Amino acid sequence: MSQRPLATYEDLGYRDVFWAARTYEDACDRIALRAFLPSGGRRLIEVGAGFGRLAGEYTGFDRVVLLDSSEVHVAAANESLGGDPRYEVQLGHALALPFPDGHFDVAVCVRVLHHFGDPGPLIAELGRVVRPGGVLILEFANKRNLKSIGRRLLRRQSWSPFAPGSVAYKPHHFDHAPVSVSRAIRIAGFSIDRMRAASLFRVPGLSQRLPPTVLARVEALLQEPLGSITPGPSVFLLARKGDR
Ligand SMILES: C[S@@+](CC[C@H](N)C(=O)[O-])C[C@H]1O[C@@H](n2cnc3c(N)ncnc32)[C@H](O)[C@@H]1O
Repeated sequence: MSQRPLATYEDLGYRDVFWAARTYEDACDRIALRAFLPSGGRRLIEVGAGFGRLAGEYTGFDRVVLLDSSEVHVAAANESLGGDPRYEVQLGHALALPFPDGHFDVAVCVRVLHHFGDPGPLIAELGRVVRPGGVLILEFANKRNLKSIGRRLLRRQSWSPFAPGSVAYKPHHFDHAPVSVSRAIRIAGFSIDRMRAASLFRVPGLSQRLPPTVLARVEALLQEPLGSITPGPSVFLLARKGDR
């Protein structure tokens, strides 16, 4: 398996352009993450942490590792964390985490799996570094969402949203079938505790017409009840590692 990053983040456009226009989606990610994150613990790793957008969510942990393969984003994370000794920002590859087995209580991985065509190797490596009884919080881009189901019904899409496997929506970006992600989670020794459907109102024009705070408030009510049917473009899951 190649250790080359599957997508490059060579500048800070992702921070300064992408997130500048996505208040609603940022809120959605935080709602799901807060719902699943244990209140505290010894060691947490976020894999593919980018510039450290979510770093402020981890204040309950004694030691927080933010790992990413982009030098520019790692430098930006270091800068924004301002030398807080609880945080360690590392340049590294998600498929070869530089930590021993079972090192972390919690692993978080948000908006990264869509850079991998096969969810198995990344989930296996996340599973390796989580201790028995520890948890994984994983977000993935969902192939079985209402938009893709509608497009399929209107014959505007050749692939079935219900088929297992992934589908590339642009180079190096993949939507995943929930069934395939769940399978990889089980193979890695986890069982899924809960799921949340996220970014439910990611509809062109909607977040420009309605205040993101209003959309986020409605979303907060719907994420959990819609978690098992995953109608949205993004899914968060909470999985617990078994004792093996
Ligand atoms: C869409 S961004 C998400 C960043 C962050 N998780 C967030 O939600 O703000 C994807 C991140 O994954 C990182 N990434 C992509 N492939 C990677 C790999 N193989 N190993 C480590 N990081 C990777 C990129 O550098 C980028 O920072």
